[in-house]
Amino acid sequence: MLTVAGIVPLGAIALGMAAKLSHAAGDGYNYRETIGPWARSLFTLQPKTHLMTGVPVLYQVHAVIGMLLIAFVPYRRLVHMFSAAGNG
Ligand code: HEM
Repeated sequence: MLTVAGIVPLGAIALGMAAKLSHAAGDGYNYRETIGPWARSLFTLQPKTHLMTGVPVLYQVHAVIGMLLIAFVPYRRLVHMFSAAGNG
């Protein structure tokens, strides 16, 4: 059965592809001037939230699901990517 631990990563991947494919015309959506600097601003703890205003909603939802997945890492088996495999 598909649990939250399966739905969140699949949702992140599906929404990433949906956002990309639905804005594929021409040069595509230029995330380098909005989502890119916004994501970097999170790491400096000075979030530039205004950069996400006007970003297509599929990218916004993708970013939320992506952050949800990252937040889950310490509490789910995903943490094993940082620890030795073997004993599960
Ligand atoms: C804060 C977290 C995240 C942000 C801000 C983010 C941002 C983005 C952006 C801007 C794109 C579009 C790239 C383009 O248009 O060329 C994208 C695409 C994509 N993302 Fe994410 N992402 C995040 C997390 C994740 C995670 C955790 C996954 C997978 C587990 C993921 C999977 C994908 C996939 C499959 C695509 C489509 C592939 C592609 O465009 O080449 N993303 N993401």
